[in-house]
Amino acid sequence: MDFICLLLLNIFLLRTCSASPPNFVLLFADDLGFGDLGCYGHPSSLTPNLDRLATGGLRFTDFYCTSPVCSPSRASLLTGRYQTRSGIYPGVLYPGSIGGLPLNETTIAEVLKPLGYATAAVGKWHLGFGAKGMFLPTKQGFDHYLGIPYSHDMGPCRNLTCFPPDVKCFGLCDVGTVTVPLMHNEVIKQQPVNFLDLERAYSDFATTFITTSAKKKQPFFLYYPSHHTHYPQYAGPGAAGRSLRGPFGDALLEFDNTIGNLLTTLEKTGVINNTLVFFTSDNGPELMRMSRGGSAGPLKCGKGTTYEGGMREPAIAFWPGTIRPGVTHEIGSILDILPTIASLAGAKLPQVMLDGVDMTEILVNQGKSKRETMMFYPTDPNEMYGLFALRLGKYKAHFYTRGATHSGTTPDQDCPVFAVLKAHNPLLFSTWRLTPQSTTLSPWWEDLTSKPKHKDLIK
Ligand SMILES: *[C@@H]1O[C@H](CO)[C@@H](O)[C@H](O)[C@H]1NC(C)=O
Ligand SMILES: *[C@@H]1O[C@H](CO)[C@@H](O)[C@H](O)[C@H]1NC(C)=O
Ligand SMILES: *[C@@H]1O[C@H](CO)[C@@H](O)[C@H](O)[C@H]1NC(C)=O
Repeated sequence: MDFICLLLLNIFLLRTCSASPPNFVLLFADDLGFGDLGCYGHPSSLTPNLDRLATGGLRFTDFYCTSPVCSPSRASLLTGRYQTRSGIYPGVLYPGSIGGLPLNETTIAEVLKPLGYATAAVGKWHLGFGAKGMFLPTKQGFDHYLGIPYSHDMGPCRNLTCFPPDVKCFGLCDVGTVTVPLMHNEVIKQQPVNFLDLERAYSDFATTFITTSAKKKQPFFLYYPSHHTHYPQYAGPGAAGRSLRGPFGDALLEFDNTIGNLLTTLEKTGVINNTLVFFTSDNGPELMRMSRGGSAGPLKCGKGTTYEGGMREPAIAFWPGTIRPGVTHEIGSILDILPTIASLAGAKLPQVMLDGVDMTEILVNQGKSKRETMMFYPTDPNEMYGLFALRLGKYKAHFYTRGATHSGTTPDQDCPVFAVLKAHNPLLFSTWRLTPQSTTLSPWWEDLTSKPKHKDLIK
């Protein structure tokens, strides 16, 4: 019996014990809001595989990303550190950016490599390209990479096809004159990208990686940051027109189909009971896109803001036989994934200041979170203002608020970009206590600033 086995037995009293360290599949959605999945209460999303993960796994209600935009969140996810430490701010990286996630930062892949893990990234990288591809995933601990190194809207897309048979991508996309490339490791494989075939290519790449690793009995780490459901939505023939929610729903369904393929592969290769599958998203919904943006459910505002809708995310942990099905109201964050994976694998933590904490107790025993605070930095962290908001236990204080372009077109006048920077004294909110049985999504933020004595509501 090896070290990991003993560790698991001692701490968690696992019924079964496998001799090899666990595998990890980390799924990261793009611009997917708190209210977008069927298992988080969306009435018309079609997400059977994600719902299956939620039913058979642990669903978080208080899980946070670290930034209301993409690149900083990814930096935090892979390093277990706030973006203010790695320098991935302000805003996001662009195809022409010379920088990227510093190579001296330690990613989850680099944490696992010394233990003999096979590592692969597939999908949207968005942590830099750099001179001669010096910031690509293959330079950050991943053995293999297939994907678009930034957002798929960061090149002209008006003439590209996003849905079969030849439905053009909606809107203008962002920047430049060069269409986005599909890269295999450090080589451009296709340009422009064929959006109708992209998900199939990702799914094949990911399932092949799992199959190959399982056959070799090598533990593996698969990181799949999907482009879905970021604008402009696209989907191939397996999902196009099949959801009840238009282009957004089709894109989400296409991601969900891939998750189904991954689960089937984990089952077929016999490793599903030794694999932690973790799902979450990089930031809140891009409300300005209306029906082509996502939903924050009952939460306030969305992408670009430090309100709950900008940074509280769906999150599901699935590991049959090890994680008991349920719902947790403990605080978690993408910062906590690196320390949790390290702990489960028996890997050494990087010798740096980490902001993440080990979530193993929450996952395996539905225990308490070691996390007491969550910091909310704006898209452009700045020493003059510091934090925009802070969550401490059940409370959240907003020191500054500001709307964002991404959260435009909402009836709530605090969300759009016209809601300029405002200092507060601070605004204080608290979560309602949810009964243990409650899985429904009641609006559970109670404004305390107007009723400071109403504390018994919260506990
Ligand atoms: C990486 O190098 C930079 C520049 O020397 C330094 O400021 C930073 O603290 C280093 N980061 C880590 C995690 O060692
Ligand atoms: C799209 O196609 C039109 C018509 O063929 C052409 O005039 C235009 O330059 C193209 N735009 C881009 C961004 O490729
Ligand atoms: C996983 O564990 C379950 C429950 O013990 C068992 O029914 C199933 O066959 C196992 N699956 C694999 C692939 O080992």
